[in-house]
Amino acid sequence: MSAKERKKKSTAAAVKPRTKKPAKTAVKEEKKIAARLIPIYIMGKRYEVPEGFTIMKAMEYAGYILIRGCGCRGGTCGACGTVYRKPGDYKLQVALACQKTVEPDMYIAQIPFFPANRATYEFAELTAAPEEVFKLYPELFRCVACNSCTKACPQGIEVMDAISALKQGNIAQAAQLSFDCIQCGLCTSRCFGELAQYHMFQLARRIYGAMIVPRAQHLTEMVRAVDEGRYDRFLGELQQAREDELKKLYEEREVEPMAAGEDWKPKDTRYL
Ligand code: FES
Repeated sequence: MSAKERKKKSTAAAVKPRTKKPAKTAVKEEKKIAARLIPIYIMGKRYEVPEGFTIMKAMEYAGYILIRGCGCRGGTCGACGTVYRKPGDYKLQVALACQKTVEPDMYIAQIPFFPANRATYEFAELTAAPEEVFKLYPELFRCVACNSCTKACPQGIEVMDAISALKQGNIAQAAQLSFDCIQCGLCTSRCFGELAQYHMFQLARRIYGAMIVPRAQHLTEMVRAVDEGRYDRFLGELQQAREDELKKLYEEREVEPMAAGEDWKPKDTRYL
């Protein structure tokens, strides 16, 4: 190898690591971006928290230990109602802390509990008459139809429409429209008429479920069969079984197929 060739080779070897360097830098840069901190204000105090965190995670990152205002962390329990305001915007916004991600310079305060009016009643003494709701929640008629409740709902429920249904005495419609309510209370926090929509809807759903919607025939029959003792022998066998026998029974059980029709029956019909 000539001196010229040797020099060329050694130069190539020398530059090789350098060609890898930008790649490493890029990885580092990526990590830096992933951990980028943004400023937010929790109860008026400034914190730096990772971008992309939910409000709930950001609060915990900032050192808050949440013993109220935190439950399922999945947007279904309604425990984490939160108010916030963004810089340069006069408007107060609401969200679930476990769902909403932080934005730079957001001002945040949680509402673990909203002191809304909740009527007390003996459910067994109620009827399905609309007047029951009117009596327990007369403030229903203070609704001014401003629609703030609907705008505040993190579940996308047509809250104002459900309230209108209740005012018209249509408990079934109010129950159906509010079916996805998670009782977070954010509608109430924004209501000019001081209505506790979520408590009213809960009453509507209870009345609807217990007194309006038709009974499921198959369930009625099954409850009767249980009461008559048709499954006593089978339940007795289960109570006597050892743990390994129970496991075997469980693992070998016949599962109803997802696409089974109404007339599906298991192969073992001894207990039907
Ligand atoms: S923690 Fe349950 S809805 Fe947010």
